[in-house]
Amino acid sequence: MKQPDLHEPPNLAEIPALVAEMGQRPGALLPILHALQDRFGYIPKTSIVMIAQGLNLSRAEVHGVVSFYHFFRTSPPGRHVIQICASESCQATGGRALEAHARLRLGIDFHETTPDGEVTLEPVYCLGNCACSPAIRVNRAVHGPMSPQAFDQVLADLPSRDPHPSAWEIDLPIATDADAVIKLYVPRDTTTIALGADEVAAGLHSGIVAQGLPLSIVRNGSRGLYWLEPMLELETDAGRIAFGPIQVAGVEAFLESKPWLHPSKHPQYLGLTEDIPFLKHQQRLTFGRVGRIDPLSLSDYEAEEGFVGLRRALSISPEAIVREVTESGLRGRGGAAFPTGIKWQTVLETPSATKYIVCNADEGDSGTYADRMMMESDPFAVIEGMTIAGLAVGAGHGYIYLREEYRHAQWVLSEALKRAEAAQFLGQNILGSGQSFSIEVRLGAGAYICGEETALLESLEGKRGMVRPKPPLPAIHGLWQQPTVINNVLTLATVPIVLARGSAFYADFGVGRSRGTLPIQLAGNLKQAGLVEIGFGQTLRTLLTEFGGGSRSGIAIRAVQVGGPLGAFLPASAWDTPLDYEAFARIDAMLGHGGIVVFDETVDLSEQARFAMTFCAVESCGKCTPCRIGAVRGVEVIDKIMSPVQTQAARQDAVDLLKDLCDTMIAGSLCAMGGMTPYPVLSALEHFPEDFRRGEVIATDAMNPS
Ligand SMILES: Cc1cc2nc3c(=O)[nH]c(=O)nc-3n(C[C@H](O)[C@H](O)[C@H](O)COP(=O)(O)O)c2cc1C
Ligand code: SF4
Ligand code: FES
Repeated sequence: MKQPDLHEPPNLAEIPALVAEMGQRPGALLPILHALQDRFGYIPKTSIVMIAQGLNLSRAEVHGVVSFYHFFRTSPPGRHVIQICASESCQATGGRALEAHARLRLGIDFHETTPDGEVTLEPVYCLGNCACSPAIRVNRAVHGPMSPQAFDQVLADLPSRDPHPSAWEIDLPIATDADAVIKLYVPRDTTTIALGADEVAAGLHSGIVAQGLPLSIVRNGSRGLYWLEPMLELETDAGRIAFGPIQVAGVEAFLESKPWLHPSKHPQYLGLTEDIPFLKHQQRLTFGRVGRIDPLSLSDYEAEEGFVGLRRALSISPEAIVREVTESGLRGRGGAAFPTGIKWQTVLETPSATKYIVCNADEGDSGTYADRMMMESDPFAVIEGMTIAGLAVGAGHGYIYLREEYRHAQWVLSEALKRAEAAQFLGQNILGSGQSFSIEVRLGAGAYICGEETALLESLEGKRGMVRPKPPLPAIHGLWQQPTVINNVLTLATVPIVLARGSAFYADFGVGRSRGTLPIQLAGNLKQAGLVEIGFGQTLRTLLTEFGGGSRSGIAIRAVQVGGPLGAFLPASAWDTPLDYEAFARIDAMLGHGGIVVFDETVDLSEQARFAMTFCAVESCGKCTPCRIGAVRGVEVIDKIMSPVQTQAARQDAVDLLKDLCDTMIAGSLCAMGGMTPYPVLSALEHFPEDFRRGEVIATDAMNPS
C-alpha cells in the first residue's frame, strides 16, 4: 500500500470501509488501530467516532483503548520517528548519556517533534537488542550499540532514509551459480541486521556474482554470539567454520582471501563454530537448531528433527501428550515457572467446544531477547509447539501475541505460518490426520503489562490491557471466557523436543525441581553478551566470567539484575547462587525469563531503584491502588532520600517510609507488576546503601566548605 505523506491531512473517507472489513475478526479493535497508524502515522481523533460506530462500541471505549497503549499516537508525528531504549540493559551501557545527547542535539524532549517536522523523539522500553545496547529504533529499523557519535551519523543520514520502510525482501541475495557447492551462512535477525548483516549479505552477493565464486549464501538465524556478529560460516567437510565479526568494509578482503581454500589465513578466522568455547560449553536443546538452519526452510527444519514431535503427538492420545509434558518437568519460561503439564491438564479436563492456545510473545523484560531469537531464527519450533498444545488440550485455534517492537519477528512468523500451512503441518487436516489447528499473529502496542497473561487476554479481546483478578484461571476462563493455554514462546518451542526425544531425556538435565535447560540472555555491560542455553544449576559467576568474559567497559562488575525490571539487584556475594528457581527464591530474587543485565562500578543503585518505581508508574495498568499510587509515591520518596536539603532524621524517615511502601505493594498488589517492583528497590537499599547517602554527602559538603 502506498504510504501518504504524513504532513498531508489523512483521507478519513477510507476508514469506514477498513473498519467494516477488519471488524469481522474477533477482537478487531487493536488490528484496526494498527492499520490506521500504519496508514497515517497516527490515529486521527475523528476516526474514533467512525471506529466506534463500525464496531458498535462507545467512543469512550475506543478512546480508552487508544490512550492505554503507548504505541498509539493521536497527533501526527514527524517525518521520522526515533525511539530511544530507556531500559536497564541500555542504561548499563551508556543509554542515559545517549538519551541526554539526543535531546540536546534535537532540541526536543520525548514525545516532541522538531520545529521543522523532521523528527519525533519517543522513549521505548527494550527493543530486544540488549546484547548490543544501547539501542535505538529509527522508523522500524533497530540500531545498536549506539554512541552519541553514531547517533549524529544517523541524523545526518536521515534525509536518505525511507520514513515508511517496506517489509523485508523474502528472497534475499543468493548466489545461483549451478557449480556453487559451498554454503556461506550470513545471519539475519534483528540484532545482526542492526550490526550490518544485510549490507554484508548484499556485498557478498555482488562479489560472488561478479567473480563467479563457488559460494551460495544462506541466511541463517544468529547463533547468539553477538560480539562476533556479523559472523559468517562456511560449510566444510569437518563442519562449519566461522569468521567474525565481518563488517561490510571487510567483505571484499574476505572474498579475496578465498576462505574456502585457506580459512585460517583470514584474520577473523574463529575455527570450527561448534568449538568456540562460548558455544561448546552450552547444552542447546530448545536452541538446538537456532543459527544452524535457514529459519524459513521447511526442509532444513525437518532435516534437524523438525516435526518429529508433532508426528508423535498425532499418533498418541491427548492424555499421553500431556503426561509426557508433565513428566519432563518443563516449567513455564515466561517468569512464573508454573509446571506446563499441570496447566495443560486443567485445560484438557475443562469441557468446552472452543479452547485456545495463546503464545505469549510480549517479551518486555529488559535484558531479554531469547523469544525474539527463537521466533526469528526457528519459527517452525514455535508453530510446532503450539500445534502440539492444540492437539493435547483440544484447541482448534491459536494466537501469537507479539510485541509491536518485534517487526522482523512479525515478518518471519507470518511467512513461516504460510509455509507450514501450505505443507499441511498446520491448518485443516494436519498431515492427513483429520485434526486441525490454525494460528494468527496479533500485535501488541507497547504496554509492558500486556505480558501478564490476563492483561494479554484483555488486549487480544481488543480492550485496555487491565489485569483480571484470579481465579478464575485462564485455563478455565481464558480468552473470550473459554479454556485457554497461555505459554511463553520458549515453553512452547521446547515442547517438540520433549515429544520427539521423550520426557526422560529432557528431565535428565537440570537440578532439583528445575528440570531441563534454561536459555539465558547475557546483556548489559558484558564483553561477550549473547545467548547461553545450559542445564539449570550453573552459577551466576560462571556465566558472568566464563561465558560473559567480564565487563565490556573493563571496569569491575558491581551489580547484576536477573529476571527483568522486577528482578533484584545482586551484589558479588550472591553470584555463587545456582541458577535454579528455588535457590533464587531463597535469596529474594527470581530467574524470570532468564535475562541477566550487568552493571559496572559506575552504576548508581539509587538511580536504578528510582527507575524501577518510575517504570512501574508508567506501565501500571491502574487497576489496584498499591501499584498505581504506590509507584508514584515511591519515586517521590526516593527523591526525598536523595535530596541534599533534608535533615538526617528526615532522610531516615523517608527510608523507613520507602520500606513500608514496598511492604504494602508486595502485600496488596493484584499482580506481580506492583507486587515485585519492590524487589529491585529493596535489594538496592539492602546491598548498596551507600548509594542512597549521596544527598547526605552533598549536604555535609555544603555545610563544611573547604
Ligand atoms: C508484569 C508481568 C509481565 C509479564 N511479561 C511476560 C512476558 O513478556 N512474556 C511471558 O511469557 N510471560 C510474561 N509474564 C508471565 C505471564 O503472566 C505468564 O505467567 C506466562 O505467559 C505463562 O507462560 P509460561 O507458563 O509458559 O511461562 C509476565 C507477568 C507479569 C506479572
Ligand atoms: S499491580 Fe499494577 S499492573 Fe498489576 S493489577 Fe495492580 S495496578 Fe495493574
Ligand atoms: S534493547 Fe534496551 S534494554 Fe533491551
